[in-house]
Amino acid sequence: MAIRKPAMAAPRGWTSSSAPPAMRGSVSATSPGRCSNFPSSSTRHWSAIPRSSASLSVTRCTSRRASRRRASSSFARCRISTAPSGRFDAGADIIVAQGTEAGGHGKAGRTTLTLTPAVVDIAGSVPVVAAGGLSDGRGLAAALMLGASGILVGTRFWATPEALGSDKVKHLLTQARSDDTLRTRVFDIVRELPWPDGYTGRALVNDFSRKWHGNESELEKSLPRETEAYWTAARAGDTSTSVVFAGEGLDLIRDIKPAGNIVRAISAEAEDLLKTRPGVQIT
Ligand SMILES: Cc1cc2nc3c(=O)[nH]c(=O)nc-3n(C[C@H](O)[C@H](O)[C@H](O)COP(=O)(O)O)c2cc1C
Repeated sequence: MAIRKPAMAAPRGWTSSSAPPAMRGSVSATSPGRCSNFPSSSTRHWSAIPRSSASLSVTRCTSRRASRRRASSSFARCRISTAPSGRFDAGADIIVAQGTEAGGHGKAGRTTLTLTPAVVDIAGSVPVVAAGGLSDGRGLAAALMLGASGILVGTRFWATPEALGSDKVKHLLTQARSDDTLRTRVFDIVRELPWPDGYTGRALVNDFSRKWHGNESELEKSLPRETEAYWTAARAGDTSTSVVFAGEGLDLIRDIKPAGNIVRAISAEAEDLLKTRPGVQIT
């Protein structure tokens, strides 16, 4: 794909010709099912992208860890869900501006549309990748227009043969709508994962979240009985109880197809839109 931002600098450690997929093709993928949940005590999520592969490992990092990772074999990625004031300098190679639309963990406050340009404005030369609700080429084109260097896509890649989820979960994703998702703490409470205040996970609404969302303190009082019941249901693949993380991009996900096809389709559609801008007339 030929979309490049002329002023876009490659992250430290990359030359422009060896820039990672997020820079060259403007689409970067998480690999749902391969990530583990690591609550962070920081308001920023750090993760590392191995230099040698497209896979993503998510870890709990501090700025100190980011420096250590850069010195080793990976890139430091910082994910933020609110725009800090002033210049943002946390030693990241890439900043992910993640809106509340995103599947999985994050914050509720900001949308991708407003957060992305605000983060771009304070990121200096560090490339910003937009995340949250972006599932097709229109999302990529819009993110580039907002000043991002690319997008980070999670939920769309959940509905692929490569993702480690069950066929049942993948089918559910193709049937569900964005309105069927909810940001909630209940799955963290029952799994006894101590995410910091303000962090919730966006997931498909199911019987479990219908029962406990809004009744969190009751759920806490019902542990460990509910925890045991939860894991029994999860082991049986019972998605009426166990969590299926998914974001608001679901309206655009109607089929299960290979990840490579998705990347190519997103890139081609964005390129086409940016070249031709169909339906837009300037008089
Ligand atoms: C099933 C699933 C699991 C995820 N697991 C993690 C995780 O363990 N750690 C993490 O930092 N982000 C996780 N994420 C968030 C993604 O890395 C990404 O930021 C997000 O999915 C982007 O928004 P989108 O889902 O709207 O594309 C997960 C997302 C999904 C859909």
